[in-house]
Amino acid sequence: MSDLRPFVFQQLAIDFGRHNSTAYMHCSRVAYVSRMLLPGEYGGVYLSYNNAYVAGFLHDVGKIKIPNELLEKAAGLSEEEIELMRQHPRQGVELVKEASKEEWMILSCT
Ligand SMILES: [Fe+2]
Repeated sequence: MSDLRPFVFQQLAIDFGRHNSTAYMHCSRVAYVSRMLLPGEYGGVYLSYNNAYVAGFLHDVGKIKIPNELLEKAAGLSEEEIELMRQHPRQGVELVKEASKEEWMILSCT
């Protein structure tokens, strides 16, 4: 597996930090820990330091699609709000897919 290119996700990271700095900092810490703990071989696939870092950072990036008021609500989420929060992993996958398409477009233009 080739390394993911962290620079491709740079704009996504900037947007995430602007949207919610608490979630951004959480993802930064998870990225740091992921890079320390996760690199290695899994079922014949090698996870590099770079990929572990990027994966750790992106694990909650779908929260960029969740309203700030909801992310910062301390407790007492309604059923509807809980359902919205549960969508953040799927939202993150869609964001990364879009960023990957942009990467592909960049590569095919060079
Ligand atoms: Fe998280």
